[in-house]
Amino acid sequence: MHPLRLGVNIDHVATIRNARGGAHPDPVRAALIAAEAGADGITAHLREDRRHISDADIFRLKAAIALPLNLEMAATPEMLAIALKTRPNACCIVPEKRQEITTEGGLDVVRDRAYLKPYVEELLAAGIRVSLFIDPESAQIETSKALNATIVELHTGMYCHATGQGQLKELKRIQAASTLSEKLGLECHAGHGISYDTVGPIAAIPEIVELNIGHFLIGEAIFTGLAPAIAEMRRRMDAAR
Ligand code: PXP
Repeated sequence: MHPLRLGVNIDHVATIRNARGGAHPDPVRAALIAAEAGADGITAHLREDRRHISDADIFRLKAAIALPLNLEMAATPEMLAIALKTRPNACCIVPEKRQEITTEGGLDVVRDRAYLKPYVEELLAAGIRVSLFIDPESAQIETSKALNATIVELHTGMYCHATGQGQLKELKRIQAASTLSEKLGLECHAGHGISYDTVGPIAAIPEIVELNIGHFLIGEAIFTGLAPAIAEMRRRMDAAR
């Protein structure tokens, strides 16, 4: 069984900071606490509208943390330039719509293959690992492979929001997608909407090697503190593995 890494997404520390426009709470401090608490990587999404993480946060994160930085970004010329300048360990390309509350679905790499190709190529040429955030569908995985992506991150939002039989059906889709990803030589990650209640069955999928979790952990940190929230997620991941 591959070890399972935990990437902590610190975006929503910046959401709270930005509500007042000052410097507190600082997402870089959160990243340092996450590292101490057992995170294996730090994930941050620099959105086009800068609603949470700022350009300065990305540069400060890169300078301050020893853990790998996973930069989530839309495929735009502006974001590509920032990625090439910052040189994160990995870039996770995500779809982005200005009005959405969060990333609502995966990229449609089948439809947007030609558009995405130069972005993937430029990032790879710069030595940055490229992850494509996709729905757990075989055509999306096969096309990600054809694009030479290093990683696919499977969108777990549908699974996390479903209940009962619907949730089981979504879990089966993620299991099948993980198997196909590994078979094709793609590193398989998963994320979006994961909580204490939903993490177990995802962590138990042997082909998945990294989970990226944000909103739930930052929310839980209000009640228990960030380090205990991360430690409890880590404990549940390990127990399910
Ligand atoms: N992975 C990707 C690609 C994402 O876009 C997000 C949300 O920014 C996450 C993981 C984390 O999702 P959540 O904040 O719901 O845990």
